[in-house]
Amino acid sequence: MSKTINLSAAEERPETKNETATITVRGKSYELPLLESSEAELAIDISRLRSETGVITFDPGYANTGSCKSAITFVDGEQGILRHRGYPIEQLAEKSSFVEQAMLLIFGELPSMDELDHFRSMLREQELLHEDLLHHFDGFPPNGEPMAILSAVINSLGSYHPDLYEFDDEEQFRRACAKIMSKVRTIAAFAFRKSIGRPFMYPNPNKSYCANFLHMMFSVPYKVYEPPLGAVRALSLFLIVHADHEQNCSTSTVRMVGSTQANLFASVSAGICALWGRLHGGANAAVIQMLQDIHDNNIKVEDYLEKVKSKEFRLMGFGHRIYKNFDPRARILKGAAHELLLNMGKSDDELLSIAQEMEEAALSDDFFKERQLYPNVDFYSGIILRALGIPVNMFPVMFAIGRMPGWIAHWYEEYCQPMRIHRPRQLYMGFNERDYVPVDNR
Ligand code: ACO
Repeated sequence: MSKTINLSAAEERPETKNETATITVRGKSYELPLLESSEAELAIDISRLRSETGVITFDPGYANTGSCKSAITFVDGEQGILRHRGYPIEQLAEKSSFVEQAMLLIFGELPSMDELDHFRSMLREQELLHEDLLHHFDGFPPNGEPMAILSAVINSLGSYHPDLYEFDDEEQFRRACAKIMSKVRTIAAFAFRKSIGRPFMYPNPNKSYCANFLHMMFSVPYKVYEPPLGAVRALSLFLIVHADHEQNCSTSTVRMVGSTQANLFASVSAGICALWGRLHGGANAAVIQMLQDIHDNNIKVEDYLEKVKSKEFRLMGFGHRIYKNFDPRARILKGAAHELLLNMGKSDDELLSIAQEMEEAALSDDFFKERQLYPNVDFYSGIILRALGIPVNMFPVMFAIGRMPGWIAHWYEEYCQPMRIHRPRQLYMGFNERDYVPVDNR
């Protein structure tokens, strides 16, 4: 396949206005090109800095490093803006579906009705897993971590389709996308069934993407699960707000692995592992555990916050590397949590009340104000998942299903750009050269 991808506005825009930044190192000055994004953000191009000056930049955690050009998602953390391919997340949450949004992220534009129908039928065709793949689930212990299962089985899935390790045309890529998007949901549900010792429930092609997932999670052979009012919508919203968030840790991982020309399956499997940690996709589970702990042990919210302020632990679901005003996804999910619990006749949910009290108290406290710490996407998402009956160890798995379109879109952007392998430098702080000491002399 000819590797071209539409970087749209970003590519058409003049990269520089012939402006430069000047850096002076030990008395000698160098001019570095200045780049401008399609949202008028500036970047200093340091790609030739070391070859020209012998100096590297130091940026632990990459908080000030642009690792690629991308036309997928725009985030303005100061203003609380999140847009996918230019469309505000609020509009997508209100008007779109997860499948449509996935197509937007991966293929670049909102699909026509025909394109949407075609992709939906591809998703239906891909719902089942190869029966041999089911043996993989037997290799995991009872109560095996669903994130471990998900990452391992997605990677194994690739080995069933080596023809999809590289793409000769866009239709082939489309097939790989449908395969992963559809099967990740089946694998996730089967991982859950495995962890509770229940039989796998096969997908039902007459159900929508989200309803089918709930069916595979909760139906039993003798009783089809009927989701409560608002459950499918709430799940769809959960997936939509998680679908992409530019160069976060797991997405950067997918791009980094992809930059080695590793295949899509292996790359997103690595993304799942990166998402697993408590500071990333594991945070939604940590929030619910925190709220449950406060509830069960009758802890006063202000006492809990005092411990956070004395840095005994962090307030989970608060703070974000990028959002320093508010996280628009948190607003959407807060509303969705309210609506779902209302629909389910559980508007007096005790964990929701604690969360709200916690949010109010934190937002009026100087410690959080000074550090610009606001609720992030994870603060309310766990309340939705818990109301849907999804157990806590499945929370990061749910995040992974949602983030899959973003990972695929970023992998493909990497695949189509003439990128170099990602390979940061370091500031070496170890020993200088020393001679080997034989073991008897140590
Ligand atoms: N609770 C208490 N204090 C916090 C929190 C928090 N949740 N987050 C940051 N801080 C404090 C830090 O202690 C630090 O204080 P200091 O200046 O006195 O040392 C200051 O705020 C800056 O913190 P950093 O760690 O530098 O912020 P960073 O941008 O590196 O971290 C992160 C962002 C990891 C999200 C952090 O806010 C955190 O740990 N939050 C809790 C975990 C969480 O909710 N993660 C989900 C993130 S969203 C996602 O992945 C989808």
